[in-house]
Amino acid sequence: MKTTARPVPSSIDETLALLGEANYLADRSLATVLFLALRMGRPIFLEGEAGVGKTEVAKVLSQTLGRRLIRLQCYEGLDVAAAVYEWNYAEQMIAIRLAEAEGNVDRNRLEHDVFSERYLIKRPLLQALEPDTAGAPVLLIDELDRTDEAFEAFLLEVLADFQVTIPEMGTVKAAHPPIVVVTSNRTREIHDALKRRCLYHWIGYPSAERELSIVRTKVPGVGKRLSQEVVHFVQALRKQDLFKAPGVAETLDWASALAELDAVALDPATVSDTLGVLLKYQDDIARFEGSGAKELIDQVRAELRAAE
Ligand SMILES: Nc1ncnc2c1ncn2[C@@H]1O[C@H](COP(=O)(O)OP(=O)(O)OP(=O)(O)O)[C@@H](O)[C@H]1O
Ligand SMILES: [Mg+2]
Repeated sequence: MKTTARPVPSSIDETLALLGEANYLADRSLATVLFLALRMGRPIFLEGEAGVGKTEVAKVLSQTLGRRLIRLQCYEGLDVAAAVYEWNYAEQMIAIRLAEAEGNVDRNRLEHDVFSERYLIKRPLLQALEPDTAGAPVLLIDELDRTDEAFEAFLLEVLADFQVTIPEMGTVKAAHPPIVVVTSNRTREIHDALKRRCLYHWIGYPSAERELSIVRTKVPGVGKRLSQEVVHFVQALRKQDLFKAPGVAETLDWASALAELDAVALDPATVSDTLGVLLKYQDDIARFEGSGAKELIDQVRAELRAAE
């Protein structure tokens, strides 16, 4: 797909509107940090619970600004070969054998040839530094907390200067730095030195009002009453002491599931049968089956009535 780049927004309101174009409903504090990160050319570091829209920020920026999305999914053991570049050894070996077979082995020339761009496999971080006619890409470094500290230290260098040194070839520096979004689920603390390079924002669970707007926008088939009950039920669940509270992703899934079942309001039986869409641990589910579901539904209805 050919995309044309749009310039970065010039105000917080424009940033909110930009995100809204892709149905991402951000609160003003997130829009402010994003606006500043885009204007100042600094990476943005997003932390928060699971399913609150961290990864989506990068996708939405790429979509609305018309930039390529380059994604680096982090995992334990991620190394430079998978994140930055690696030499294509097999191709290099073939080139060397062919040169030998032809009997034309000029050592220096051969070395120069096999360590040229042709034999370089570019991984996400290197790709993100390359010039792009559609404007600097969006680089998503997702779930950084899953990598180890050695990789984090390496990343620090890349993010500081937007450059990578390949010993056999030289330094690759981005003419236009990418828009960098780093996310973490906070399974471990990320080092201060890396955070210092970035603008930081914690994405919390949305307010009931904003979550309702998100459901209405993303699952338009759900009726008014059901969407209200769904959102208030999830918000009440988050106040309970759960092993794993549901994120916005789960609210959206649950609203879609209930709409699929033609529900118009919550009832204990349907809630009990569909809890697996919302909660992913048996201990949590067991607490809210049957009478647990009924109690919470009653509480939600009372709240909604009081707010009318
Ligand atoms: N503010 C929002 N506006 C619209 N949609 C949202 C918002 N927040 C979250 N969502 C939706 O919730 C879902 C989950 O978002 P996302 O995958 O970005 O979460 P995450 O924080 O990266 O979660 P994880 O930590 O599990 O990776 C997506 O479908 C996203 O569209
Ligand atoms: Mg994510």
